[in-house]
Amino acid sequence: LLPSLISPAFLDSIDLAIVIDTLRFTTTACQALAAGATEIWTVSEVEEARRAAQAEHAKGRPTLLCGERECRPIAGFDLGNSPAEYLPDVIAGKQLIFSTTNGTRAVNAVRSVNRIALAAMVNRQAISNYASHSSNQHIGIVCAGTDGAVAMEDVLTAGALAERLTESVAACHLHGDSAHLALAAWRDVCGPQSAQVSKRIEHRFAACAGGNNLVKAGYEQDLHFAAQLDTLQAVPVAHPQCTPEPADS
Ligand code: MLT
Repeated sequence: LLPSLISPAFLDSIDLAIVIDTLRFTTTACQALAAGATEIWTVSEVEEARRAAQAEHAKGRPTLLCGERECRPIAGFDLGNSPAEYLPDVIAGKQLIFSTTNGTRAVNAVRSVNRIALAAMVNRQAISNYASHSSNQHIGIVCAGTDGAVAMEDVLTAGALAERLTESVAACHLHGDSAHLALAAWRDVCGPQSAQVSKRIEHRFAACAGGNNLVKAGYEQDLHFAAQLDTLQAVPVAHPQCTPEPADS
């Protein structure tokens, strides 16, 4: 395995793209699958998501419209982007059409890659197991960031994943400086002791710009959820061919 951190401009040699938007899209996607959602569609624009949901409703498919803008639920959508909303009695057996500010756009930016999976702290181990199934593959870890800027929480998650991959796959070598920088940032947070690591992650999230925005919007409890390491087995694989159809088709 050759995991590297990449931007969507460098997709050519990638066999598997792992997209990270820890606060909060990829965390929420993991929780949604764990709670029984059947499928997650990633849509960049709000209107596009509305049209896709209407078309799916017209076909009689149980569908929920989900996402956020500026961290808050979007008018007319069924659910926002807080993992706390994704409970089995609300979403089990339903497909989710998601539009978020950075996360779903990052997924759509890597659609040319054959395999796309979503990672967060909560499913780090499960993603590592998934990624290690085949050898000799180049994994591109794509950090969604915030409006094009690097987001600390995504880089920390990339580092945590890189560490787990190198620990569990003998033939895994980090490729490129950015992967090593992410690993160093992660080790700075987790330290040599594994005890209370989630507490330390949460603390660091609270100091990040993305974490700050969530606290200001009243979603402090989501930092706690997103900081739990290896708690979910879900491996969300993005629906690469989602092409919304007009509502009247
Ligand atoms: C995004 O896609 O930008 C985020 O997931 C924002 C949020 O935390 O709701």
